Amino acid sequence: MGKRCGKASALQQDICAVLVRLARSGKQVVRLKGGDPFIFGRGGEEALYLQQHQIPFSVVPGITAALGCAASSLIPLTHRGLSRAVTLVTGHLQKGGEFRGWSALAQAGQTLVFYMGLEQADVIQQQLLAEGCPSQLPVALIESGTTRAQQLCITALGQLSETAAGLTPSGPVLMVIGEVVGLRAELTATLNSLDTLAVA
Ligand SMILES: C[S@@+](CC[C@H](N)C(=O)[O-])C[C@H]1O[C@@H](n2cnc3c(N)ncnc32)[C@H](O)[C@@H]1O
Repeated sequence: MGKRCGKASALQQDICAVLVRLARSGKQVVRLKGGDPFIFGRGGEEALYLQQHQIPFSVVPGITAALGCAASSLIPLTHRGLSRAVTLVTGHLQKGGEFRGWSALAQAGQTLVFYMGLEQADVIQQQLLAEGCPSQLPVALIESGTTRAQQLCITALGQLSETAAGLTPSGPVLMVIGEVVGLRAELTATLNSLDTLAVA
């Protein structure tokens, strides 16, 4: 019952119905998801559906893309003096009514992580700039994070839309916005110098 961004996939109501049907037939059913089932994974909806149909279940926590992608890209999501908070945001902000939280997202001293944000890069750029974020605020676009195919693109908020339009990703992309993205350059410089020492 997998889903692929932008491609035809099973309807949520059908997925829920299959879970109940298989469980009632006596099977132990595994609903496998990427990352954490309760972070933008509709795991909460499925769990509620099972609850309403008296199907016992347990939830196995996973490492959500924000944590996995950031760490494997050498981007600390929090860092003393730079970022005191991390906000996980869906890029599908226009769905379910107008989003009113832009000014909170634009507050300094935090890191924003947008899931499913690539197609909304222009909106994200415009709204954050309009709320006072600096155009040089660093942004990381991480494709297929934590896998061998991981790709990283570093840009700035002022160029986000242009950079996103130039990408042709073949896997999921996560967007990390905040001063902490700049730490990556420092951390990789240290690693590179350690490599050099090791070779020497
Ligand atoms: C429907 S959400 C599912 C999130 C998942 N439940 C989690 O906790 O990571 C799908 C979005 O998560 C992000 N994502 C998931 N896996 C990713 C990966 N390996 N690399 C980059 N982004 C990823 C992308 O933004 C993608 O569009």
